[in-house]
Amino acid sequence: MPASAARHDETAYDRHRLRQWLAGDARADGVGRRRLLTLLAATAAATALPTPGPARADGPRRASDATIVKPLPPESFILRGTNAETRWEALRGTGRLTPNDLFFVRNHTATPLLDAHDWRLRLWGSGLRGAPGEDRPVEFGYDDLRALPSVTRTAFLECAGNGRTYYASQQGEAVTGTAWTLGAVGVARWRGVRLADVLRRAGLSSRAVDVQPRGLDAEYVSGGENLGRVRRPLPLAKALDDVLLAYEMNGEPLPPDHGYPVRVLVPSWVGIASVKWVGDIEVSAQPLFSPWNTTFYRLFGSAHPEGGSAPLTRQTVKSAFELVRGAAFPAGAGQVLHGRSWSGAGAIARVDVSTDGGANWRPARLHDRPRPDSWTRWSVPWRPVAPGPVELLARATDTAGRSQPDVAVPNAQGYLFDAVVRHPVTVY
Ligand code: MTE
Repeated sequence: MPASAARHDETAYDRHRLRQWLAGDARADGVGRRRLLTLLAATAAATALPTPGPARADGPRRASDATIVKPLPPESFILRGTNAETRWEALRGTGRLTPNDLFFVRNHTATPLLDAHDWRLRLWGSGLRGAPGEDRPVEFGYDDLRALPSVTRTAFLECAGNGRTYYASQQGEAVTGTAWTLGAVGVARWRGVRLADVLRRAGLSSRAVDVQPRGLDAEYVSGGENLGRVRRPLPLAKALDDVLLAYEMNGEPLPPDHGYPVRVLVPSWVGIASVKWVGDIEVSAQPLFSPWNTTFYRLFGSAHPEGGSAPLTRQTVKSAFELVRGAAFPAGAGQVLHGRSWSGAGAIARVDVSTDGGANWRPARLHDRPRPDSWTRWSVPWRPVAPGPVELLARATDTAGRSQPDVAVPNAQGYLFDAVVRHPVTVY
């Protein structure tokens, strides 16, 4: 997108947030007002933690030109530029949690190699208490965060563009962006501190409306324009709700590719909100914007408002088979098909599977107690009859009543694909 269009988007979004702000609604974006009042009451009761030491702006140390540090064996990953997609067939037999070495990686540039001992998190901006106009940064070291009460939470992390390739292959829509199939998602058990606790200790002011975490990875250049470091604002209500500053993933320190030493983890929202290698957080009394909530991660196109939709928040409903595309099955032999479904709006209520291209459907057996923010594993028995090509389909419905449609509403950047994916196999 040209720079002028980006500026237009930013202006439009800024105006929208400003209107909300003037109406007293900016802080409630995405979270109910009653919930917000509870959260703010808790904030008012909190105290500030003394965090001595000058603010530092050291950049990351870089070890090599490789964009991803961990091994990416071809049987587990599909390489896509600076990113690595998990192969669904590699998840067969793994548990509910995606092992760290199988977890997809989405890097705008490259994984920086950071040292937890040098790392500092700086909070700054007009939404912190202090004399008007005073720049009053507050710093936390790694040990400061580890000393705070910790929480553990199981949550999926999914790129907003997961499934993007099916806009083209199933619906004939030309979209831009990484051609993910369905492997830009994983579920992990995250441990860290509540962002709310850190904001309170930093001296959150009653005027704060947005917080914007920023990564320590290199500045991102797109279409010849330097967009700066990856950063995306969060409305205060979400920041105070269930967001973590995570330092552990599945019981281990965060791996370098997933944000070591500390990342933001925003449950149920598009992956871009979960900023990795977080180095600072702006806390603002005015709505904030960045290219990641204006130019990117909104819906553009004829089905959407002129100037784009609101910035993306929750993820959609999806399902995937733990099976390679084009798998071959002998006719007449009993099989069990396995898969997983998930949603950003609630737990999975049911999954229906078709083994004949969508003519007939039957309910899958759910293997997990369905929980919000996680996926549910399922299976169906199948005895293929006649040799030939077959399409397998799975359609999930969540507890919020959202079900996967046959066709996803297209948007120029191919976000939030939610339609039922047709999975081709061969019976021989
Ligand atoms: N944070 C930083 N600093 N840099 C990035 O490139 N990518 C975002 C998000 N956080 C990104 C980032 C995107 S688009 C996604 S989908 C998730 O991180 C991916 O997290 P993962 O690589 O740990 O799977």
